[in-house]
Order: sequence, then C-alpha cells, then structure tokens
Amino acid sequence: MHVKTLILGAGAAGLFCAAHAGPGTLIIDHAKAPGEKIRISGGGRCNFTNLGTSAANFLSENPHFCKSALKRYTQWDFISLVDRYGIDWHEKTLGQLFCDGKATQIVDMLTTEVKNAGAELWLDTTVKHVGHDGAQFTALLTRKGASHQLTADNLVLATGGKSIPKMGATGLAYDIAERFGLRVTETRPALVPFTFPAERFQSLAGIATPARVSTGAAAFDEALLFTHRGLSGPAVLQASSYWQEGHDVTLTLCPTENPFDWLRTRRATSGKRNLTTVLTELLPGRLIDYLAHMHGWKGNLADQSDARLTEIADALQNWVVRPAGTEGYRTAEVTLGGIATEGLSSRSMEATALPGLYAIGEAVDVTGWLGGYNFQWAWSSGWAAGTAI
Ligand code: FDA
Repeated sequence: MHVKTLILGAGAAGLFCAAHAGPGTLIIDHAKAPGEKIRISGGGRCNFTNLGTSAANFLSENPHFCKSALKRYTQWDFISLVDRYGIDWHEKTLGQLFCDGKATQIVDMLTTEVKNAGAELWLDTTVKHVGHDGAQFTALLTRKGASHQLTADNLVLATGGKSIPKMGATGLAYDIAERFGLRVTETRPALVPFTFPAERFQSLAGIATPARVSTGAAAFDEALLFTHRGLSGPAVLQASSYWQEGHDVTLTLCPTENPFDWLRTRRATSGKRNLTTVLTELLPGRLIDYLAHMHGWKGNLADQSDARLTEIADALQNWVVRPAGTEGYRTAEVTLGGIATEGLSSRSMEATALPGLYAIGEAVDVTGWLGGYNFQWAWSSGWAAGTAI
C-alpha cells in the first residue's frame, strides 16, 4: 500500500495536520481512541488555546523557532474554527479558553475535519518498523493482528512526548528522529508537581493560596497548593518547567501585599492583638501556625520590633525550599525538550536533511506554559506541516 503521507500519532498535532494534509493521508495511533489527552485535558473541558499566545510563553533551545508557525496559524484562527463548529467556550483566567461543555467536542471537531479532508484514521495500530529506502519512507504496521507494509512520500512524527505513559505515551518520535539523523535534546518532565520528604508539608496538605513561585529568573503568580507529597498548583507547575535538579525554589506568600507595611499599620491600630491571629487575615490559619512554629512567632503585635516585623515579612516573601524532585512523567502535563529545532524548517516543520520527514507538536523541542499554549503549539505546528505537504 502506498500513501502520500503517513502521520504517526492521532493526538492534537497529528489530527490537525491530517485535517490539512488532505486526501492520501493515513494517520495511525496505537490507542483505541484518537486525542485521548485532549479528552482528559483541562479537567475534561480542554483549555484549547490562550488569548495571549506568543513565543514568550514557550521554552526551547531556540526561542525564535515557534514564532513562524504561531504567527501563521494563530489562537484567533483556532477560535474561529471552534466557533464554526458551534462549540461554546469561556475565558477562565489569564486568557485561558475552555469549552463550556466537554473536551470531547474538540476531539469530535478534529475527527470530523480529518474525515472531511479525505484522510484515513487507523486506531489500535502498532508501528513495527519505519525506514527510508532512498526514495520514499517504508513502514511496517500491525492492525488488529494483520501486518501492513506501507510506502509513503511523507512521514510526520506526531507521537508527542513521554508524559503519562499509562495513557500510551512513548518516545517513538524521538527514536525515529534519531535514526534519521535528527538530534534530540535532553528531555524531562515539565508542568509537574514538586516532591519533598514525606513529613515536610504533610500538615499543610490541601491548603491553596495565591503566591509567587520563582526559580532562577522565572517567576509565576498563580495559586500554590500544598499536597501530601509536596507542592503543586498552577504557580508550581509553571515554575517546574524552569527548575533544575538540586536548585532552590522561592515561595512569596501574599505577593500583592507588602507584609512589613501591612504589619506596621496593624501594630499601630491593633497592637494588643495576637500576631499570628492577625496574620490569618493574610494567609490560611494552618499555614500561619506552621510558619509560626518554624520561626518561633509569638506575642502581641505591640511586642514586635521593626526588626522582628522585617524578619516576619521576609519569611513570608522569601521562603526558600529545595524540592527533592518532581512527580516525573507519571503526572507531568508535558515533556520539556524533544526533537531539536535546528534540524527542522520553522515554516513547514520539515527536516532540512531529509525532505518529506516532518515533526510536530510536543515531540519537538517547543514546550508551552500551562494555560492552553501546548495545544496552540500542536494546532500551529500541525497546520504548518499539513499545509506544506
Ligand atoms: P499527544 O500526546 O496529544 O498525541 C500523541 C499521540 O501519539 C497519542 O494519541 C498517542 O497514543 C500516540 N502515540 C504515542 N506513542 C505511540 C506509538 N509508539 N505508536 C502509535 N501511537 C503512539 N495542554 C493545553 O494546552 N491545555 C490543556 O488543558 C492541557 N491539559 C493537559 C492535561 C493533562 C492531564 C496532560 C497530560 C496534558 C495536558 N496538556 C494540555 C498538554 C497537551 O495535552 C499536549 O501538549 C498535547 O496533547 C500534545 O499534542 P501532540 O499531538 O503532540 O501529542
């Protein structure tokens, strides 16, 4: 069997690419259903893009690589498609767009687009071998027990990253890319909770509070969540993409207040009140108890000198912690790193050394922040390859 284009991976990027690559396209996946990560994304409502998408929201060895695709197929283009399908959506926060209904509406929209484009979708299909005979790509696939020997003019790597192996994530795209001479950067779990020794935050488990979470030069102001195993919440997930093993993370609690000024004002008006009771106006009581125990805070506000208030403010604003690690690929939303961009055209996602080979989506070394950016990269890169083919 010969096809014009063989796409490996029927996730967000692969489906969108197939919808634009058109007739003569075969898209395959080893899963029983397409777009499984879309289905579970955004708590079942799919955060399908972000109004503020720009290259600044992505990590890559080459931060400029994603610009062309993001500019040529934008968040507004995807929003018009969603609107054409009558899928209702809302902005939750920080430009993040979610379906009002279910994420499966996005999967249904994509599979309809694939069908309308005349592309064929094979599920439950395993890749046994992929090669190139000098003229075209060759592939051996098995589907429902039967083997299929294929040739293809174009091969698109769209099998995503290594995050959540339980959902079928594999490093197939990286392996094939390397076999064809493309470099793969170091990969690691990203958008992932931090872990700490068991006893560290046990008593704080379940507390969520606004915070700034910083590591190196990166800082994110969003919710911080204490868990039985460590730290999570959007601010932590964002920071995890920038975190290096063995490095510190700084927690700035109540980031919109100047705690020193606030405490001084309160001391002037309510000096007889207990320090920790007053602090619960700023932060959850259990968190204040924990910090008070750690730093020996006690007494009334009037008992605290300016120097002591400075120490307290510093403890609230510069709480330095060192994660033992992360939850890893088991729960990471994405994989940082991937197929190095220097081997790909930023316009078409085609490998410069091997015409006809394309890599798109999460498999490429372009990783978005939390908030709909990763799907937008899947749409933009899938569109770039699909329309170039
Ligand atoms: P994706 O992972 O979607 O697709 C890859 C496909 O390849 C899969 O269908 C897989 O089965 C298949 N495959 C893998 N190995 C194979 C093999 N060896 N043989 C055959 N097929 C193979 N992003 C966002 O922007 N907004 C959000 O709300 C969320 N939410 C979210 C929640 C959770 C729990 C996770 C894990 C991730 C998110 N993300 C997200 C990230 C987003 O899901 C992700 O970046 C995109 O799905 C990437 O699209 P791809 O098509 O590149 O890979």
